[in-house]
Amino acid sequence: MRGGAQPHLMRCSDGGYYVVKFLDNPQHPRVLANEWLGALLAARLGLPVPQAAVIEVPVALVDRSDDLVIQLARGRRKLSPGRHFGSRYPGDPQEIAVYDFLPDELLLEVENLEDFLGMLVFDKWTCNTNGRQVIFYRPQGGSRYRGLMIDQGFCFNAGEWDFPDAPLRGLYSRTRVYASVTGIASFEPWLQRLESRVGERVLDEIASEIPPEWYNFDQDSLYRLLEQLRARRRRVRDLIVSAKDTYRQPFPNWK
Ligand SMILES: Nc1ncnc2c1ncn2[C@@H]1O[C@H](COP(=O)(O)OP(=O)(O)O)[C@@H](O)[C@H]1O
Ligand SMILES: [Mg+2]
Repeated sequence: MRGGAQPHLMRCSDGGYYVVKFLDNPQHPRVLANEWLGALLAARLGLPVPQAAVIEVPVALVDRSDDLVIQLARGRRKLSPGRHFGSRYPGDPQEIAVYDFLPDELLLEVENLEDFLGMLVFDKWTCNTNGRQVIFYRPQGGSRYRGLMIDQGFCFNAGEWDFPDAPLRGLYSRTRVYASVTGIASFEPWLQRLESRVGERVLDEIASEIPPEWYNFDQDSLYRLLEQLRARRRRVRDLIVSAKDTYRQPFPNWK
């Protein structure tokens, strides 16, 4: 697949297809922990994310596949077997096409456009230091496109886990998706879910399912990350307001 982590599309033993990010990706091992936390927390908030899975890549498969490699500036390096992160492809790739971008006319017709507001709440909360990334596909039988929020690898600032907040962070590149925003009230349903659905117990539960090699067995850093996430829930309102007055003017209808 495209992308800096050089993920691979793989068919897995449950019959599903997954875009798999490897632990020995060119970015950072913690990117896998971020993907896991990101996908499960976003799902908990009711946001549209692909199903996340731990993918077991056996030694025999790596040995037999010439394609399971990372492209380097010069040459290639074989990927390692073990447990890796999988993001489920929405269906059979031979039947369902997935797009990284839609032209404006189609983008504004997306059936779940309002989810971009919820995802901004999420991206501010987790300090996603990459632009918001979305894929679009047409569900079987549907006529309109649906957006799925992908690539949570740079939440918490990738491998740093240090939350360097900045006003423009987390916005989707095409800010027309925020045209329905008329004030902070537009984000209120999502802000309330943040208060009520992702407390300490939920955070611990989701974190306990991360394969520990994805954060180098560093429990202390993981606990600190969770503690910050818990505390930051109260700051998201201000972080959204800080985006409002930037030169990008993402919310032109804010009164
Ligand atoms: N669940 C998914 N279903 C279909 N395509 C996906 C999925 N996840 C990622 N992709 C595709 O793979 C590409 C790379 O994935 P991404 O998570 O952005 O990796 P990277 O961290 O390398 O940027 C995306 O641009 C998208 O086209
Ligand atoms: Mg990406």
